[in-house]
Amino acid sequence: MTNSKTVVIAVANHKGGCGKTTTVVNLSAELAKCGLSVLIIDLDPQANASLHIGKKHPSEIAVTCAELLLSEVEKLPLAIHSDTNIEGVSLIYGSLALGKTEDELKDFAPRPSEELREKIKPLHGIYDVILIDCPPSLKLLTSNALAAATHLIVPVESGSQYGMYGVTDLLKLVDKIRRINPNLELIGALLVRHDERQTVCKLIEASAKEQIGKLIDIRIPTSTKVNQSAIAQMSLHALDRTAKVSREYRHLAELLIKQLNLKIEK
Ligand SMILES: Nc1ncnc2c1ncn2[C@@H]1O[C@H](COP(=O)(O)OP(=O)(O)OP(=O)(O)O)[C@@H](O)[C@H]1O
Ligand SMILES: [Mg+2]
Repeated sequence: MTNSKTVVIAVANHKGGCGKTTTVVNLSAELAKCGLSVLIIDLDPQANASLHIGKKHPSEIAVTCAELLLSEVEKLPLAIHSDTNIEGVSLIYGSLALGKTEDELKDFAPRPSEELREKIKPLHGIYDVILIDCPPSLKLLTSNALAAATHLIVPVESGSQYGMYGVTDLLKLVDKIRRINPNLELIGALLVRHDERQTVCKLIEASAKEQIGKLIDIRIPTSTKVNQSAIAQMSLHALDRTAKVSREYRHLAELLIKQLNLKIEK
């Protein structure tokens, strides 16, 4: 049995390399381990989440997010791949073509920011959680993710002095999208590569709290296991479930299950 309510979480921050894809992949794996049915929507032309968890290369996929966004809703079943490298996690692939999709949406779609929301409407009630991996930009693809989402997580690279650079622009876009998606709820900023002993991390933590307003009470540490798991195309859980970074993603999943009242299938 699935939840009648599907939680759609956009993981967004236009700052590149702040941990969006790592969070989407490993949070999905931990939610699935808890018995939830999970779908990842890879909205990034770089398709890193697809390269990580997909059984095929994105170039071999007939209906990726790019085709889905520009097609009729009938293409939806062809876009969903339930056989992935992470058990219990399905995938709508991203692809390089998403770069062009943005221009085409702008020129041809009646409501350019609302195409994803329309296309995934039939999935409400089918999955417990849908996670959207956003590209490092604030253009139409991210607008589509925010318009389709019920919730938002903003990963912030804690170990970098530039970690908060540009966040106000993201918050402005969120405000704008709330005009078409008034119920979009900010779960909070997620500090990634955090080390509480480092001054820079303390500064970023304070600044994220002040500017974003909500901090998720989980800190993701730096770990070489993150790269290892991507190279091995497995989740951190499968690579080494006892590593601290794996434990923190597990705690994040448990926190969301509690906070969002997600029902676990028996
Ligand atoms: N906690 C971590 N410890 C060590 N390395 C990490 C951690 N999180 C992410 N990384 C590494 O940092 C790089 C960027 O991470 P990731 O791809 O998740 O960021 P992103 O925000 O999705 O990037 P992009 O904006 O390009 O989509 C990757 O090489 C990843 O393996
Ligand atoms: Mg990414």
